Amino acid sequence: MILPIYVYGMPILRTPAEDVAENSEDLQTLIDDMIETMHNAAGIGLAAPQVGRTERLFVVDLSPLAEELAEEGQTLPPQPMAFLNPEILDESETESAFEEGCLSIPDIREDVWRPERIRIRFLDRDFRPQELNLSGMIARVVQHEYDHLEGILFVDHITPFRRRLLRRRLREMARGLVDAEYPVVTAESETA
Ligand code: NI
Repeated sequence: MILPIYVYGMPILRTPAEDVAENSEDLQTLIDDMIETMHNAAGIGLAAPQVGRTERLFVVDLSPLAEELAEEGQTLPPQPMAFLNPEILDESETESAFEEGCLSIPDIREDVWRPERIRIRFLDRDFRPQELNLSGMIARVVQHEYDHLEGILFVDHITPFRRRLLRRRLREMARGLVDAEYPVVTAESETA
């Protein structure tokens, strides 16, 4: 089932997510729905708060970038992937910048600096513990989604100057002025 995506300004996006205690049919349905929602919106990552949920969970699917990554010499684990109760254990001091977007902040893209490599521990959707060293694009996407679980958005990372330039558009978005090609929940739709 395709779920509506909560847009910038909705309080759930600023609410830290909570560890998932146990597997359940509901949880498996949520993971399936999040993957379907991400694909429908042509996204490569989606975190539970973006669909109005509090579970510490995100999904990614970098298969659209597989060819590009292969050229960089990177092989992808089977996609899509679910990350439950993730914990970043280590990150490189070396950072790089890349333009990011977010399904909760339609039409805005900005350069974000992030560590190039991370080590992350999580449970997969079958609750098997995993630990991975990630670098390049997958490390970036995973850090972006991980931030969502802490109530952090990519626009929090941009320079004060860029933020000032975006302030008006973000304010309008928070008031419900959004044009997205997928179902969304905004301040306006909640009061309608
Ligand atoms: Ni995002």
